[in-house]
Amino acid sequence: AYDAGPYVPQRAGLEELREAAAGCRGCPLYGPATRTVFGSGDASARVVLIGEQPGDQEDRRGLPFVGPAGRVLMRAVDEAGIDPTETYVTNAVKHFKFALTGRGKRRIHKPPSLRETAACKPWLDAELTLLDPEVVVTLGATAGKALLGSGFRVTRERGVPMAGPPGGAAPGGPGPVLVATIHPSAVLRAEDERERVYAGLVADLRVAAGALR
Ligand code: URA
Repeated sequence: AYDAGPYVPQRAGLEELREAAAGCRGCPLYGPATRTVFGSGDASARVVLIGEQPGDQEDRRGLPFVGPAGRVLMRAVDEAGIDPTETYVTNAVKHFKFALTGRGKRRIHKPPSLRETAACKPWLDAELTLLDPEVVVTLGATAGKALLGSGFRVTRERGVPMAGPPGGAAPGGPGPVLVATIHPSAVLRAEDERERVYAGLVADLRVAAGALR
């Protein structure tokens, strides 16, 4: 079965996790991708933002949310009253999954399967356990399903504070609040509805900001 578990070092810090994740072969996505894209940001962040998987630019540069979707996300985070430099960003799946299309062989994003998402979950669990944030924000269906199960639906569950992943809590701690919202790339795809879709993202992120202690 696909599983990153055997690659995740026990009692490791964030940097050791990042180094180990670079060699992960827990599922076949490491093959075509350029590199593992681990989470990045403030190790003492109170807010952790979780996307789907790295995109083309993230795969090239090795950092999450440095492409167009990341620019939308960070503008929305800022507008919601959360300091972008005080967040940690990561993805449910840590390799870029893509298909080659056309004669120019452009790499177009393919959504990760449930199996691939489940296989990668030990990395996300390890990050959340170490970061122990106050608020976890899932961006889109893949991240929502990774933490809330395959029955998760963004439209039904977005913008309401929920109990976060129990595995993310420090022993005896209160554990994070989870707020689900849309993926920022939905704003980019929205064409003439862009402003409305963007406003919805900001509104959900305000809920996340309001859940900070
Ligand atoms: N989309 C994601 O879900 N994550 C990234 O890191 C970039 C784009």
